Formats: sequence, C-alpha cells, structure tokens
Amino acid sequence: MTLGGFSGRDAVGGLALESITYVAGRTLLDDVSVTFPAGKVTALSGPSGSGKTTLLSIAGGLLQATSGTAELAGQDMWTGSGDPRPEVAFILQVYGLVPILSARENVSIALRARGTAPADADEAAEAALARFGIADLGERQVEELSGGQMQRVACARGFVVGADVLLADEPTSELDEGNRGVVLGELREEAARGAIVVVATHDPAVVEACDLHVALDEGRVVR
Ligand SMILES: Nc1ncnc2c1ncn2[C@@H]1O[C@H](COP(=O)(O)OP(=O)(O)O)[C@@H](O)[C@H]1O
Ligand SMILES: [Mg+2]
Repeated sequence: MTLGGFSGRDAVGGLALESITYVAGRTLLDDVSVTFPAGKVTALSGPSGSGKTTLLSIAGGLLQATSGTAELAGQDMWTGSGDPRPEVAFILQVYGLVPILSARENVSIALRARGTAPADADEAAEAALARFGIADLGERQVEELSGGQMQRVACARGFVVGADVLLADEPTSELDEGNRGVVLGELREEAARGAIVVVATHDPAVVEACDLHVALDEGRVVR
C-alpha cells in the first residue's frame, strides 16, 4: 500500500533497530539491535517484564528511545509526537478499543482515520471481522464482549489497514487453540503479501509458528 510517502517496497529493507536503549527510572532496554524483515513473521519472546511491549512501542513510533535508532527505509519511526506513521498498525495488549462503539465501528475507524470513505471502511471492517470468525458480532458494543472477543476485534482492526508494518503485542493471549491458529494464519498471510510482522509473545507454540525468533531477557537480546 502507499501511505504517508512510503510504498510497500520500502518495507523490503526491514525495520531496523540499532543500539536501542530505553531508560525510565531504570534501564528497560539495553543496547538492543535487531532488524525485522519484510515477508516474515518474527516472534519477540521473553518473560513478563523483559521489555517486549516497550520494544514494540519504540519500533512502531509510540515511544521515543533514550538512545539508538528505529528506522524504516531510512526514516525515523519516531515522528516527534508519539503518533505512529500511517503505514504502521498495532494490535495492543490493552486492545485500545472504544468501549461504547460497536465492534464494526472500532475496526472501521482505523480506515476512516486514514481517509477511507465511511461506507467502504464499514465494508472492509465487516470482512476483517469475518477473518477472525466474529462477523456476527459487528453490531455488538465492545463493552459487551468477552476478553477473547475483544482481542479478535483488536486483531481485525490491526489487520484491516493492510499496513506495511504490523506489530502485535501478545495477540493470542486470551484465545483458545482454534482461534490462536486463526490469528497465526492471518499473521502469516500479512507477511506473505510482504508486510513486516512482529509478534510479542511468551507462548512457545506461537514462537514455533513464526519464521524468526528474537528473545529478550531483562531488556537485552539473548537470541
Ligand atoms: N513507563 C514506564 N516507566 C517505568 N517502568 C516501566 C514503564 N513501562 C514499562 N515499565 C517496566 O519495564 C519493564 C518492561 O516492561 P514491558 O516492556 O511491558 O515488558 P513485557 O511486555 O515484556 O512484559 C517492566 O518491568 C515494566 O514494569
Ligand atoms: Mg507486554
């Protein structure tokens, strides 16, 4: 896709993190250098508190590193505001859904915010919900959904934009095995069309299903 001056081809060189350090009171990330390539699903594993969410946040431009660089096609991922570049989509651990909007609206707004006409955005949202087996929940207010259903709405919202960079933070933590398989299959589809896909997880079965594996421990890369 072409958004914000990038084209899909720009993802080819990968998302390059170089000597990333993040200090918030103490050092949460310590000299992390890693490249997330296009066309692959990379697992980012590590125990709780090891820095996975912090690293994804820096990789996607939500947080500014204390030192080091995060770049895609030579452009800094940090835009100066904490707003990610439009070619980045997140699936967040805390979902970030709007509770009083419907499932479909929560997905649709990701596209509307990028300039898609409402009717087209709604149609794409329906299709995205269907990818995760929740087409029947489109009209339901998010606050009435279960944790696993909310997580699948968050996945639909992350996937619907067809982003060059898809950063998923423990996207299967609330899901049963069947739905976990669905999400992993969809992540692979995104990589297959050339996207950079990174999945933070502490689930060995998810790591196993990914192409590449980067492991963190106490803010350092250990593999
Ligand atoms: N803004 C912050 N200020 C201080 N500590 C933080 C902040 N954000 C996260 N932490 C701490 O940093 C560590 C890494 O957190 P996080 O990146 O969320 O790890 P993970 O996602 O691997 O569980 C944890 O110990 C967490 O409590
Ligand atoms: Mg986390």
